[in-house]
Amino acid sequence: MKIHRTVDAMRSASRAARHNTGRIGLVPTMGALHEGHLSLIRAAKNQCDVVVVSIFVNPIQFGPNEDYSKYPQTFERDSRMLEKEGVAFAFAPSIEQMYPGGALSYVTVEGMSEKLCGRSRPGHFRGVTTVVSKLFHIVEPDLAFFGQKDAAQVAIIQRMVRDLNVPVEIVVCPIVREPDGLAMSSRNAYLDPAQRKSALVLSRTLRRVRQVFDQGERNAAKLIEAGKQVMAEEPSVRLDYLEIADPETLDGVEMVSSNGLVAIAAFVGTTRLIDNILLLPSR
Ligand code: PAJ
Repeated sequence: MKIHRTVDAMRSASRAARHNTGRIGLVPTMGALHEGHLSLIRAAKNQCDVVVVSIFVNPIQFGPNEDYSKYPQTFERDSRMLEKEGVAFAFAPSIEQMYPGGALSYVTVEGMSEKLCGRSRPGHFRGVTTVVSKLFHIVEPDLAFFGQKDAAQVAIIQRMVRDLNVPVEIVVCPIVREPDGLAMSSRNAYLDPAQRKSALVLSRTLRRVRQVFDQGERNAAKLIEAGKQVMAEEPSVRLDYLEIADPETLDGVEMVSSNGLVAIAAFVGTTRLIDNILLLPSR
């Protein structure tokens, strides 16, 4: 595996690989890799000839009081994992490479970027769409792979690609969970054993919503109420939001008549975790 640290080197390598080999798949990450990331990489390997994984903790998607400075950095371990997966290129630029002289230009998906996590993390999605646009311009992938774990991120990136005619196909991969149901996340590393246990309330809440939905309830407020009762069993976990939204527009819904995205965010100690499920009325 070749590790590229500069924009120019990455772009040349990607162009040459596309010319000589074929379809390029990009998996954007912030490192601290786990099985969730690896599932994206494996999907990319299946569907593409060459896989590029970017590892960049993107400062502009973190708010001033968020965990940017302590975000786990495990580059040696990450690169060993990528090597084992047969990844051709890792792109691991410095902040100076990505934002020489700072960032003055942004890509924003207006309206959607203020929904769900965007409400409690102002500027977060603007940071995500900006860095993902930059990665698309640098790597010029044919396909790019994202996890359903970050459902709002997926919807916003899909909208950006559509609105701006970006020539890339977005592939969405299912959420990978620990055996006990906790969605895998680089931030799980922050949890102590007691918090790790409490964090299960997020997936338990979602499962309860699905159960009530499967019993026939379609009223979003009632479904959310049922979920909040489960949250109340774990008072140490502070709910940020539990919402049911249209998975494409992220607008809240009153009745779940077509697909409904049930999205949750909560603080376990100071660690903010997210999770979601899709309700499919037709099933
Ligand atoms: P990061 O949190 O490192 O996640 C990278 C990719 O892995 C995202 O597409 C995310 O949805 C996916 N992922 C994370 N946990 C997952 C899980 N348990 N199951 C399936 N997929 C999972 O998301 C980001 O980085 C950044 O915002 C980024 C897109 C790289 C832009 O900076």
